[in-house]
Amino acid sequence: MLRVKAGILVLVLCFVQNMISQTKVSFEQSDSDPLISKHIYGHFAEHLGRCIYDGFYVGEDSSIPNTNGVRNDIIEALKALKIPNLRWPGGCFADTYHWKDGVGPKEDRPTMVNKWWGGVVEDNSFGTHDFLNLCEVLGTEPYLAANVGSSTVQEFTEYTQYVTREVGVPMSDYRAENGRKEPWKVTFWGVGNEMWGCGGNMRPEHYADIYRQYATFMTDWTNSDGMFRIASGANVADYHWTEVLMRDIPKSLIEGVALHSYSFVEWDEKGSSTKFDESQYFSTMQTALKMEELVDKHAAIMDKYDPENEIALVVDEWGGWYEVEEGTNPGFLYQQNTMRDAMIAGITLNIFNNRADRVKMANLAQTVNVLQAVILTDGDKMLLTPTYHVLKMYNVHQNATLIPVKFESPSYEFKGETLPAISISASKDQQGKKHLSLVNIDSKKSNEVELDVEALGFKKVSGTILKSGKLQDHNTFDSPNQITPQEFGDFKLKKGKLTVTLPPFSVVVLEGE
Ligand code: AHR
Repeated sequence: MLRVKAGILVLVLCFVQNMISQTKVSFEQSDSDPLISKHIYGHFAEHLGRCIYDGFYVGEDSSIPNTNGVRNDIIEALKALKIPNLRWPGGCFADTYHWKDGVGPKEDRPTMVNKWWGGVVEDNSFGTHDFLNLCEVLGTEPYLAANVGSSTVQEFTEYTQYVTREVGVPMSDYRAENGRKEPWKVTFWGVGNEMWGCGGNMRPEHYADIYRQYATFMTDWTNSDGMFRIASGANVADYHWTEVLMRDIPKSLIEGVALHSYSFVEWDEKGSSTKFDESQYFSTMQTALKMEELVDKHAAIMDKYDPENEIALVVDEWGGWYEVEEGTNPGFLYQQNTMRDAMIAGITLNIFNNRADRVKMANLAQTVNVLQAVILTDGDKMLLTPTYHVLKMYNVHQNATLIPVKFESPSYEFKGETLPAISISASKDQQGKKHLSLVNIDSKKSNEVELDVEALGFKKVSGTILKSGKLQDHNTFDSPNQITPQEFGDFKLKKGKLTVTLPPFSVVVLEGE
């Protein structure tokens, strides 16, 4: 009888063992490992739906505590996130925006129709001063996406002078009249947005010429202001776009090339942000993981024309895109944010970290109340989404040196299709602490990884995890802290090997010293 019981026990143990795959991970440091630019952790705020108005900006007279009209709870949350840069005012809105409409006394500002986003009236009450002062409060670098599609070279050039020149020229004197004597420091300038689409439906050859013209007049002979000019980049896998831009724009005129890619179930059938099944989850992971191939292929084209690696790949729009929440304006792109979004954030940031040699900047779309937001608001209520928590856990990688990782991922299988279940990136910060970020996207299976940390010299390890019971779980205004990072202890460090068990659909960040 005892023997039979022991046999059953062995069988059960074998079964459990098989349920948990084991993955061996090694690290390969070298002197040429790149720095993970903090700007990979950038954000994006467009005049779209409730991102700016009724999101960031509630106005000076609001009963919601605010600083110059911007909610204090949002300011605090973004400071804690250490956001390195913020892109504004679009998106598609950027190529309809005339900056002079948004400066000067608010009561005198003209209104306009926000044609791409719900056709609502934009009253221009949040303009350049509001945005750039907010960036100063947040301690973040502004990234101005300026109008090329419906603007002129003169309007654009005057904007750069208004923002960055010392007083003494007409535009900077105009700024001083509007209440700001000192120039702001604005390094990042987007020269239009999605010029292949809402920016003007241009061909790349035409845009490359237009870009050359705008980029020339933004600067002087030597670009003495040190502007970082970013060309409107490719839509997803449009490699021809990147090829033409890299071929036709002289290196002296360009510092960055953009790329936009979103994650979804199907572009024409996006499905609900919270009510989705495994098949929809799997498809979303498929598009999110595609980012690796996109970055590799666009980077390979850039390598051809820029072997010195002087031009950055700037993924200035990424994130999950679903149907809007029921009863909300379809043009406002308001969606909830679940553990599925935490997976998108975790794997995408690992991809960017691992390609930090070329990806020097990226912007999650969008910060508040739009697409894969880190913050949602409802009246005076505010919540932090699972995506917020992933970005906060990962901010340890900002400006740290990449530690390249080598491993064969186990598969996440669904109906005969497979995806790599595990994603990892690692870095060493300026204090010498090492951080590993690990994601297991498998919806059902835990995965065990054995990390060879001998060379990393780990003596002690601590960890944080983001997980939840169901993929569809999310924070709500009634229960805003349902999903928050927890201390993680499911690992063993023995003889230079760190064994970690990653629960299904979880994100773990480990710190080793
Ligand atoms: O982020 C929403 C929209 O997506 C942006 O305005 C546009 O650039 C992209 O198509």
